[in-house]
Amino acid sequence: MTFKQACEKTMGHPLAEALQWHIDNGVDVAVGDVAVNRTVARAAEPPKASELKPAEPKHAEPGIAITGSFAALRQKAVDAAAAANTLEGLREAIRVYDGLEVKRTATNLVFADGNPKARVMVIGEAPGADEDRQGLPFVGVSGQLLDKMFECIGLSRREEDPAKAIYISNILNWRPPGNRTPTEAEISLAMPFIERHIALVAPKYVVLMGAVAAKGILDMDQAISRLRGKFYDHPSGAKLLPTYHPSFLLRTPLQKKKAWQDLLLLSDALKDK
Ligand code: URA
Repeated sequence: MTFKQACEKTMGHPLAEALQWHIDNGVDVAVGDVAVNRTVARAAEPPKASELKPAEPKHAEPGIAITGSFAALRQKAVDAAAAANTLEGLREAIRVYDGLEVKRTATNLVFADGNPKARVMVIGEAPGADEDRQGLPFVGVSGQLLDKMFECIGLSRREEDPAKAIYISNILNWRPPGNRTPTEAEISLAMPFIERHIALVAPKYVVLMGAVAAKGILDMDQAISRLRGKFYDHPSGAKLLPTYHPSFLLRTPLQKKKAWQDLLLLSDALKDK
């Protein structure tokens, strides 16, 4: 039976409709082998000793594999990132790091794209479905807008000249299931790797696309609308420029004007050097 025949045969079946409803709502990955019916209230049972986790509520979120204490997982990330002395070494350190549950549901590691000698590094949030399939950041619709935005100021990920190139990565290198926003705990575990990534590339400017990248790297809790539009100092000496994420701009085209102002700030700064 062809896929089309199978679809026709199951069309109208309540299970097929339930599956389509989940896909339409972004639930396109099975994260466990056993389905959990969350509509049925569970009788309050005392937890088994093996279910007890360290009392660290901020980090005890779903999506994180708590195999030891959160602090141990975080220390492991810090050590693994610090031990990487090349970009290839860092890619491998991220690939083998086991603290992030999202690794298990992702298809590919999405490490980076572009020219690692670029003066400008661009950091997004996390890969989506297209990026997960191809193993490259910003290759879907928001990536097409990102490329156009930078091409308007003469910068491209395909450029060999470091003065005209960009290098692109994300805070999180694995796709969160259903494209959900990374949790605070995931961001915390990913930070040592992206900080090491910045240190190894040593760009002059880092453009932080969207709230997750801006708040993560700046460690500030203000809205992206307040953070954007000015440069901040990074300990590496790079200048950080937060701006709107291209997928936000696709949903809210009126804000493109502000993103364009941010890119002009970057373009002027690059001319001064
Ligand atoms: N959005 C991001 O933040 N990063 C990608 O790589 C793709 C979409």
